[in-house]
Amino acid sequence: MITIAVDAMGGDHAPRPEVEGAVAQIMTFLTENEFAALYVPARFIPRIHPHYREVVEVLAMQVVDEARHAEAFTRRAEAGGAGLGTTATSGQLSLKTLLEEPDFTTAAFLLCVMGEGTFLTLLKFLGEHAPDPVTSALAKLAHRDEARHVAFGMEHLRYVLEREPERKTAMVAAVERRSRMLASISGLSPYVHDALVVMAGGGVSVAQIRAGARHVSDLHREMDRARRERLQSLGFDVETAAQMSEYHTKNFM
Ligand SMILES: [Fe+2]
Ligand SMILES: [Fe+2]
Repeated sequence: MITIAVDAMGGDHAPRPEVEGAVAQIMTFLTENEFAALYVPARFIPRIHPHYREVVEVLAMQVVDEARHAEAFTRRAEAGGAGLGTTATSGQLSLKTLLEEPDFTTAAFLLCVMGEGTFLTLLKFLGEHAPDPVTSALAKLAHRDEARHVAFGMEHLRYVLEREPERKTAMVAAVERRSRMLASISGLSPYVHDALVVMAGGGVSVAQIRAGARHVSDLHREMDRARRERLQSLGFDVETAAQMSEYHTKNFM
């Protein structure tokens, strides 16, 4: 359960305006991704026979978690006075390709394994680099929820791929297809990238930007490493896992 204690951000812990602006921009990015993570399982719930009630219940809980995350991240953006930031067309396009996936297993793979898996690394990073204890707690609590969503996706994929190993090809194709559709996106939205740099560096001086940029490039490397590890644990060979991780959307989700 996430509850924001706005008071905890005041006093000694209140971030400086440029860092607060960066946090608000990151919260905006998270919120928009939370909605995509909410819409995907929600779309499939009415299509599942009640005989598989546990699956319906898990997906319903996932929807609740994402709604809570979106609420908490929006409130955090507003609590410091900066308010919601900018959403980029590139991010919207990336999330649209996720929403359009008609097959449940492919959608669970793209969302829970590739997307939310990448978000686990991002939330851990935010928990470590947040400028105030409230933001850090939010990231850590959301990380705990996301770990459940990733675990569900991993176990679903493990189950399917053990029984139908030929479906691995379809997962590779789905990642490639998504990458082709997003070919016009050169990288992470500059709004989000710059905000991560300012937040992780702790400000906008040359030394802080340099430190922040180093942290963010480490973040990208760690995201790639964790994705490859997950893919290999699902039975993809080293080269295929590396290629799929490389193809994964620059939007993270
Ligand atoms: Fe979430
Ligand atoms: Fe999630």
